Amino acid sequence: MIYLDNAATSSPKPQCVLDAVLRAMTEINANPGRGGHARSLAAGREVLACREALSALLNARDPTEILMQFNCTDALNLAIKGCLRRGDHVISTYLEHNSVLRVLMGLEKRGQISVTLLRPREEGMIDPEEIRRAITPRTRLLVLTHASNVTGAIQPVAAAGEIAREAGLLYLIDGAQALGCLPVDVEKLGCHMYAFPGHKGLLGPQGTGGLYLKSGVVLRPLREGGTGSSSESMVQPEELPERYESGTLNYHGVAGLNAGVRYVAGRLSQILSHERELTTALYQGLSALPQVTVYSPAAEAGRAGIVSFNAGDLSSSQAADALDRAGFAVRGGLHCAPGTHAVLGTLRRGAVRASVGHATTFEEIDAFLAAVQALTS
Ligand SMILES: Cc1ncc(COP(=O)(O)O)c(C=O)c1O
Repeated sequence: MIYLDNAATSSPKPQCVLDAVLRAMTEINANPGRGGHARSLAAGREVLACREALSALLNARDPTEILMQFNCTDALNLAIKGCLRRGDHVISTYLEHNSVLRVLMGLEKRGQISVTLLRPREEGMIDPEEIRRAITPRTRLLVLTHASNVTGAIQPVAAAGEIAREAGLLYLIDGAQALGCLPVDVEKLGCHMYAFPGHKGLLGPQGTGGLYLKSGVVLRPLREGGTGSSSESMVQPEELPERYESGTLNYHGVAGLNAGVRYVAGRLSQILSHERELTTALYQGLSALPQVTVYSPAAEAGRAGIVSFNAGDLSSSQAADALDRAGFAVRGGLHCAPGTHAVLGTLRRGAVRASVGHATTFEEIDAFLAAVQALTS
């Protein structure tokens, strides 16, 4: 099976990630921050090491700005619900994943906030000037995906950050398709919050993810409970990161994530350029096939490691199923992103999404292109 579904979850995970999870579940196997014995302390140190590695990768100022969450959806829920108040206005886009859209639409439907969704221009990018024009006196938050999970189109996240700063808006970036796949520097992006999964570009286990929360920005925690700190108090502590991390962490997963982040950080420029070249080969190969329609941006610098397309008159699920039978893992359908498909005109048909990873080879891309060609001939 040739795996081209890295935008859903990355595969394979490096051996060091598997080793770290096994060690966490055997040798250490204790609750971090919940005891003074040696194994609990060792688990706590490993969680801190992961926070430090993430903080360095994102160029955060302090590891306490990294909040451990259980996936990117969890991080986005905390960021959005934690900062909004009744009557607020939010600017976001049609390009967002349902983990942003459903949270915003749910709050709007319950009469708590109002939302403006911006449409992308040709090539799938949002025009930053449209953000400026959508700002009202009630706007509190701007939410923007770093890269579309359907087309891979990279958004003007730094320019948007400048507009958010000038207007005094809180700024949240959904980094699900970017961290580990594109350079990310939260200072340069000017964001207050950056949500990310651990199981995609960071090569960690599922059940991990996090939120970068800039020092000084205070959210309402969505979960309250035991933190292993300030236990004499019946109210949620103020300290960071405990305020937002109630309940036992996924320590086994975080140990794997720590190994994944260090693996990625140690070879980031090689991974980025390898994935960029693979994506270009994929894009060019698919675009050259006469019966294939490609939806991803043409400019190499404008896309992350994703190319979406349709073949002949097959529906995306027919094509994805045929490719599965031929030995290729890709994803058809709507990718939890109905707004993007509405803009592309593919709401009924969906699209086939192929997404590369650190271990994908050029031979695998050639074999995939031959399989797509065979589908339409
Ligand atoms: C752009 C985007 N945002 C958010 C998510 C949600 O991530 P998770 O499944 O880790 O919660 C995804 C998942 O595919 C995504 O592609």
